[in-house]
Order: sequence, then C-alpha cells, then structure tokens
Amino acid sequence: MDNSSAPLNGTWASRWVFILAATGSAVGLGNIWKFPYIAGEYGGGAFVLLYLLIIALVGVPVMVAEVMMGRRGGMSPVNSMKKLAGQAEVTSRWKALGYLGATAGFLILTFYSVIAGWALYYIVAMPTVLVGADTEQVAAVFDGLLASPMTMLLCHSVFMLLTVVVVLQGIYRGLQRAVQVLMPALFVMLLVLLGYAATSGGFNEALAFMFTVDFSKLSSEAVLVAMGHSFFTLSLGLGAIMAYGAYMPKEVSGKDGRRRPVSIGSTVLTIAFLDTLVALVAGLCIFPVVFANGLEPGAGPGLLFQTLPLAFAQMPAGIWFGGLFFVLVLFAAWSSSISLLEPLVAWLVEAGWSRPRAAIVLGLAAWLIGIGSVLSFNLWSDKTLFGETVFGTLDFLTTNIMLPLGGLLIAIFAGWVMKDSHARKELNMASFKVYLGWRVAVRIIAPLAILAVFAHGIGLI
Ligand code: TRP
Repeated sequence: MDNSSAPLNGTWASRWVFILAATGSAVGLGNIWKFPYIAGEYGGGAFVLLYLLIIALVGVPVMVAEVMMGRRGGMSPVNSMKKLAGQAEVTSRWKALGYLGATAGFLILTFYSVIAGWALYYIVAMPTVLVGADTEQVAAVFDGLLASPMTMLLCHSVFMLLTVVVVLQGIYRGLQRAVQVLMPALFVMLLVLLGYAATSGGFNEALAFMFTVDFSKLSSEAVLVAMGHSFFTLSLGLGAIMAYGAYMPKEVSGKDGRRRPVSIGSTVLTIAFLDTLVALVAGLCIFPVVFANGLEPGAGPGLLFQTLPLAFAQMPAGIWFGGLFFVLVLFAAWSSSISLLEPLVAWLVEAGWSRPRAAIVLGLAAWLIGIGSVLSFNLWSDKTLFGETVFGTLDFLTTNIMLPLGGLLIAIFAGWVMKDSHARKELNMASFKVYLGWRVAVRIIAPLAILAVFAHGIGLI
C-alpha cells in the first residue's frame, strides 16, 4: 500500500469491521433507552413508521455524506475538513466544522458516561437489591442512585475508564478488537431477550402497539422529535462517523484475490438497517414486559430504569434476564462512547501527541466535566444555568444545537461545496439515478429537515 496516503491512525481490517464499528457507534443509549420511550410517548406505530421514513430520506443520505467526506479526507475530522476545503477551493475555515463536531462529541461523552454508569449500577442491582422489589422499592432504588453522588461517581468513573482503555490502544488493538467482541455479543443478548419477551406474555400487545399505525396520534412535535432522534441514533453530525470513515479501506481483496472498491452506499445501508433493527427489537423486548405487567408505555425517560426493573423483579428468572438486559445496555453504550472520544484523540495524535497521552488527558477532562452532570441529579440539582442543570444544559446544547448544526454543515458541504466530480468519484455508485437521488437529498431535503429540527430545538417552532 502507498504509505503516504495511509491514515496515520490506522485502517479497519475489512469492510465488515467498519460496519461493526459504525454500528457500534450508532447503536447505543439512543436505541435502547431513548427510542422505546419516545415511541411510547408519541403514540407507537405512526411514530415508528415516520421514524423509518426519516432514517431513509434524511439519515441515510447524510450518513453517506459523512462517511464519504471522512474517507476522502483520511484524517481526523478537523484535518479532513481542512483538506476537503482545499480540494474544493474554499476557505479552510470549514475546519471549524471539525472542531464543532469533535467538541460536541466530547461534551456528549461527559454525560453519556454518567447515564451509561446507571446501566452499570443496574447490572449489579438487578440480581441483588431489586429481587422481588415492588413499585415503591424500585423507585427507591432509582431515587437512591440519583441521590448518591458517590455511587454515581463510581459508576461514571468505571465507564469512562472502560472507554479510555479502548481508545488508548488505537484502531487495531483497541477499537477494532472491542467492536469485534461487543457487537456479536450484543446481537446474541438481544436475541435471547427477544425470546424471553416473546414467551412471557404481552408480546401481541407490544406488536400491536409498535406497528399499528394511527396517524391521528401523530403531532408535528412527533415529526421533529423523530428527525432529531434519527441524527442522534445514527451518530451523525459530529464527525464521529467521519472519523470512522477515515479508517475505512478504499479497496478490499475479494475471494478471488482481486481488489474491489468498497461501496459507501451499501455499507451505510447495512449500518442504518442494523441500527434500526436494534431499536425495533429493543422495543419488542421492552414493551411486552411493560404490557404483561400493566405498566405505562409512555412512562418517559424512566422507562428503562424504573418501569422495566420493576417488571423484571416480579418475574421468575426475571432478575437474571434483567441483569443481562443491562449488560446489553452497557455494551451498546460502550461501543458508542469510544466513537465520541476518538475524533479528538485522532486530532491530537495528528498534532504529534502519543495516543495513550491524548486518550488519558481527554478522558480525564471528560470525567471531570461529567462530575457536573453527576451532581446535577443531587447536590447541584438547584444550581441552574438558563433554567437547566449542568446535565440539562449540556444535553440541550449538544443534542438540540451542535448536532443539527453539524449535520446541516455536513449536508451543505457535501451537496453544495464539494466538487460534484469528487463526490461522485469517492462514492463510486453503480447507478447514476441513485447518485442523483442522494444529491437531491443532501442538497435540499436534509438541509430543510435539519433547519426545521433546529428551529424546534431552540423553541422557534
Ligand atoms: N448513536 C449513539 C446512540 O444512539 C450515540 C452517539 C455515539 C452519537 N456517537 C455519536 C450521537 C456521535 C451523535 C454523534 O446512543
């Protein structure tokens, strides 16, 4: 291979490893914690259908753009953007997009680790303090966790450590090895839990809830929530997928030994399909338990940590399946958190830092800021900035502002700024019609959709 163009940080061993890594990034708390509760809140079937439509029309085209830009840039998002801006003969200020994304990813990591820490706690709590617990006891366990800064800090620290340990070992020994273990394990656990859900009652109700489409239940609010979530769940807009795209091989050897170009379009379709599948199956694992126990599907963010443990605690063998469920959540969150840290680490490595130093320094910084989120649930719960706690502010700033802004800039860059010939060459699509469809999506559909989400996120519509 030509070493001058080999990415400094490494290349995935194959197209499949890229798929696993990107799916690992995409499948996370968004799929297992957030998707079921927003689907529950916004009325089930109609929301699910809408979500699928948005993933196809906006999510997939923007993901194609992000992977394409990453692979062409071949570096951390900041330096890739600098290079791509040079090729497009526009101002190198476009690298600000790289900084915006990498910073937002880092900020998300600070509180993502705190929530993932809860899953860690429940792995232990499920087969111990939660055995046979009733509604009040389950609520007391959750409230107790939130009220204990030390427990939360411990879980947050362990999770951050797990993230740093993977990232500091680099692409080959770290990220690649982690996703090759975590993702297959995740799929196996999901199947086991689906089998359990399918046989413990409530499954038909869950199916009806998730797939009976009743458009009268759909509000304009639901449309915007579905759009915002499609970005979060596919890890778009922050350069995480761009950074992973940079490690994507341009060609692989086929069985006959011939080199073949790696198609971005079909690879992205696979990732989006798997991500959606996990969200739907997670719903099919959670809602039967909810219905079989006469609980409320629209219970909101507490669905995963309050409603579900209650149900598991009451079922035979439920504590073990409950424990397994939270291992699943942990694995999903872990393979996502490494993609939140990687873009900034890659950038520091390109600036001459050693990878372990970059990962440790950034991990430590994210851990420190994360303490603000830990305290938001207890000691600092009344300390607010613009009416929000530290956690609320960071969540709002990243999810509602930085993420759509990053997505918008990516779509504009890929659709309007990049030379058509460059995008076409990098995508190398077999069908010109598909390419045109992609172009219309990134030029027009995605920017309009994102602007609407953005306006909604900051309270304009
Ligand atoms: N997609 C992950 C989830 O669903 C979260 C995530 C990881 C993410 N990396 C990201 C979101 C980058 C936005 C951008 O939980």
